[in-house]
Amino acid sequence: MASKAEKETTPSRYAVMGNPVAHSKSPVIHKQFAHQFGHNIEYTALWVDTDGFADAVEQFRAEGGKGCNITVPFKLEAFGLTDNLSDRAKLAGAVNTIRFEPDGKIFGDNTDGTGLVHDLTKNLGVHLKDKKILVLGAGGAVRGVLGPLLKQNPAVLVIANRTVSKAKELAKVFAQYGKAEAVGYEELVGKRFDLVINGTSASLKGEMPPLPVNVIANNGVAYDMMYGDKPTPFMEWAMLHGAATVADGLGMLVEQAAESYLLWRGVRPDTRPVIQQLRKGP
Ligand code: ATR
Repeated sequence: MASKAEKETTPSRYAVMGNPVAHSKSPVIHKQFAHQFGHNIEYTALWVDTDGFADAVEQFRAEGGKGCNITVPFKLEAFGLTDNLSDRAKLAGAVNTIRFEPDGKIFGDNTDGTGLVHDLTKNLGVHLKDKKILVLGAGGAVRGVLGPLLKQNPAVLVIANRTVSKAKELAKVFAQYGKAEAVGYEELVGKRFDLVINGTSASLKGEMPPLPVNVIANNGVAYDMMYGDKPTPFMEWAMLHGAATVADGLGMLVEQAAESYLLWRGVRPDTRPVIQQLRKGP
């Protein structure tokens, strides 16, 4: 058994597993969180072969890992690998945070949706209750955030997707949590929303979902769940088409990390200085 002194000097190990993962900001974020509390942690980015996820998780646990974040493309596989799930992970159908329990079990959580809601409400001061929300896309990223968004009691949450059947499926699953509707982009003509969230992968390809020009209400908010060094095409479009507030997903990234940190360490870090630091760049 390790002595007390050894225990205190050995860092607790965490990681983010993904493919690709080299450009992940998570190690920098968690290092700053740990610094806030004087915690001794080691957080690394682990590149995992697409068919080697389960082995990588097992190996990390065997090496003493306490928990990990899961990113593309393993969130669904992580969901299947866990012994117990949080309600929000069940709702999301995906896991982005794993905690290794002392009894050998794996607990799975999903902090993405809570991260988005925190960024919108706390950092950007956007109230969601009774608001008209439009969410673009119907893939895994969107599924992960619908539950926490609906929990805020918006007037309506409309999901728009090129493949309407996927949006319809999601609206059906989430209808029990609030007013969720599904449409194709052409049905958005003449409709206006207080908040438009881009959850498509269009920004990754430098593309923009086919939105009608007046879709953002006066004083409306446009939020892209992606982030990059410069504004995404959706953000640029929103600035030109009436949005009063335009934000990328960097705040969501830091907020979901803070929720993971809370799950692992029992304390929630102060996200503001970390977001500010990341905005300044290296
Ligand atoms: P993720 O896990 O990031 O959500 P995904 O499951 O592949 O990735 O989903 C990508 C989403 O982005 C889908 O909703 C996709 O629309 P379709 O289902 O119709 O394919 C959407 N998407 C990707 N590129 C897009 C574009 N250029 N315009 C509009 N939607 C786009």
